[in-house]
Amino acid sequence: MRSVWTLLFLNILGRCWDIWGFPQRCKPGSYFQGQCRTPEEKPKCTDIMLTYCKDMPYSTTMYPNLLEQKSRNEAEQSVEYLLLNVVNSLLNGECSPYILMLGCSIIAPRCENHKILKPCRSTCESVHKACDRMFERIGMAWPYFLDCDRFFVSEEEGCYDPLEGLREEEPEMDNLSIEESSSTIQFMYHSNTQMFNILNKTAQECSHISRTYSIGQSFERKDLLVIEFSSNPGEHELLKPEVKYIGNMHGNEVMGRELLIYLAQYLCTEYLLGNTRIQTLINTTRIHILPSMNPDGFELALSEMNRGSDSNHDEDIIYTGYTAGHYNAQNIDLNRNFPDLTSFVYDQRRLKYFRNDHIHIPDSYWLGKVAPETYAVMKWIRSIPFVLSASFHGGELVVSYPYDLSKHPQNMFSPTPDEQVFRQLARTYAYAHSTMSSQDTDRCGGKYADKEGIVNGAQWYNKIGGMGDFNYLHTNCFEITVELGCDKFPAEDDLSTGWLENKEALLTFLESVHRGIKGIVKDEDGHGIKGATVSIRGNRHFITTAENGDYWRLLTPGTHIVIASAPGYSKVMKRVHLPAHMQKAGRVDFVLKKVPLEPEINELNILHLGSYERFDPYNLLAQYYTRETRQNVEERQEKPWWWPYFTQLGNQNPSWLLRN
Ligand SMILES: *[C@@H]1O[C@H](CO)[C@@H](O)[C@H](O)[C@H]1NC(C)=O
Ligand SMILES: *[C@@H]1O[C@H](CO)[C@@H](O)[C@H](O)[C@H]1NC(C)=O
Ligand SMILES: *[C@@H]1O[C@H](CO)[C@@H](O)[C@H](O)[C@H]1NC(C)=O
Ligand SMILES: [Zn+2]
Repeated sequence: MRSVWTLLFLNILGRCWDIWGFPQRCKPGSYFQGQCRTPEEKPKCTDIMLTYCKDMPYSTTMYPNLLEQKSRNEAEQSVEYLLLNVVNSLLNGECSPYILMLGCSIIAPRCENHKILKPCRSTCESVHKACDRMFERIGMAWPYFLDCDRFFVSEEEGCYDPLEGLREEEPEMDNLSIEESSSTIQFMYHSNTQMFNILNKTAQECSHISRTYSIGQSFERKDLLVIEFSSNPGEHELLKPEVKYIGNMHGNEVMGRELLIYLAQYLCTEYLLGNTRIQTLINTTRIHILPSMNPDGFELALSEMNRGSDSNHDEDIIYTGYTAGHYNAQNIDLNRNFPDLTSFVYDQRRLKYFRNDHIHIPDSYWLGKVAPETYAVMKWIRSIPFVLSASFHGGELVVSYPYDLSKHPQNMFSPTPDEQVFRQLARTYAYAHSTMSSQDTDRCGGKYADKEGIVNGAQWYNKIGGMGDFNYLHTNCFEITVELGCDKFPAEDDLSTGWLENKEALLTFLESVHRGIKGIVKDEDGHGIKGATVSIRGNRHFITTAENGDYWRLLTPGTHIVIASAPGYSKVMKRVHLPAHMQKAGRVDFVLKKVPLEPEINELNILHLGSYERFDPYNLLAQYYTRETRQNVEERQEKPWWWPYFTQLGNQNPSWLLRN
């Protein structure tokens, strides 16, 4: 009862102050009538009276505070104070006492002898260092009013330690219990911001073997960020094969995205710890990981998923979690958006000199709707001599391999000339996975139990414009599609199981790029020949050499006749025997002799109008960038889950809480 009266009394007192107190401006002349205080008169220290700052090691403060808030009332209703109020629930209890006290030292600064004392910069810096990661995890910017340089001062300037009260109980401040390395795997879903941060931090931590780079942007201008691992990041090395992993092409198929984030963290940590297997892999292989090809779709899927679980009892809301975010932000299915080169192959395959590799993209393709994500990935695939790839999806438990487009209108087994190689690659993943190839027909993916967990794409699910067929028919890269489980968006609790089930398969598949043969095609002076072809007798799928004449040809064990050729050179043929269970690629080099260039009888030249180099003839890329102003895009961007905390009570728009 007494405190109510005290409050009332203070309230009345406060009002009187508003009428007669110092914030009033002096009207000319009023000073002499004694109604106005002298400008030199000192403001007074007052009791803190802010609930969330009651544990400060001092009891009096002064207004205006360090944020220029003129009264307790104004401070209490500010977004800054609101943040202190909710910081505990936002950060899940971690770091909250430190943030709270740091914030109070700014909102309710210590007052002694009519003077505001400022808190120490060194304290601010150590809290910032230890707690920034917690903010990062929830996608929130470090609050501007905890800017150590702006609001805090050094010891020489007479600061005090705002965490004094805490230290008495807890003398060790360095730990703060959250100094984790960025490579600690967290089995949770990561927002796009969190994913970008983890990838960049991981690359920094392993900067001698890793880097990140963006291959382009999504429709809503989010980076398509790749993390690379190699003993020489950023460069192709002679004879070193390149592999890629792509996740989350369908935004609502999310397990692969998380597995690839974990894989990146795992590769970095294990390399640093001296794990021989991981070091050997990274020393001999260049690995590119794109955890999310569809970050816009993911964001939509995630918010629908949250909405769905929040509104179980609300029948008005149609639950769309299963499909929302499948497509990109333009409603394009990215796995139907690649050029259809397979139909061309089906039309032409009976021609005598037909080759089913490095098929050109028809100009007509560019007149259709090409998603920026598809564009970026095509450009990426063309720019690096990838040998092997996997794309991760969800909804089934099976590995599928090209062709994805059926020869007939219905689903029908449609093998490539490399059927045996693809089966071997698909099995490599399925066998190393803990359940994918199991005989149990009741399990998820049980339909494929008798097929050892692998299936030809066209037989399984006929589709046109898929990424796998494009890789195979346009480049040297062999890509499989991994379906990681029946649930496209599994519960967070299932992520650690998913990692355990797939970890071995993810590593074994990367290692399997070291199979078949590799070598250099040179001229008589020992210079590598770029763009020479390497073919296997009886197989119309040729491989071409990279910049310095190096090539890789995935093959099954057995005897093969290998032929190397290049325009203006003689053909060279070699017989190669690959024993079963060979653990590395056999080295087969070729030296080609110069011969007078004969006009080659090659129907291919006639059939392939335009050239392989022709990419984006109508300059679509420029259109993507002029499409709309950056601002429009930013307004449409999803706000983070905690945004309503700060906007529901008033019209405040604390954009300083948003990262970037
Ligand atoms: C703090 O970290 C040190 C090592 O850095 C450790 O020895 C100590 O036990 C930790 N203290 C607490 C309270 O966790
Ligand atoms: C991550 O690194 C890339 C460059 O590798 C950069 O463009 C991007 O802005 C970084 N993102 C974040 C969130 O730090
Ligand atoms: C990988 O390469 C690094 C740097 O050259 C070397 O220190 C390390 O011993 C190599 N590890 C293995 C297992 O080959
Ligand atoms: Zn999919």
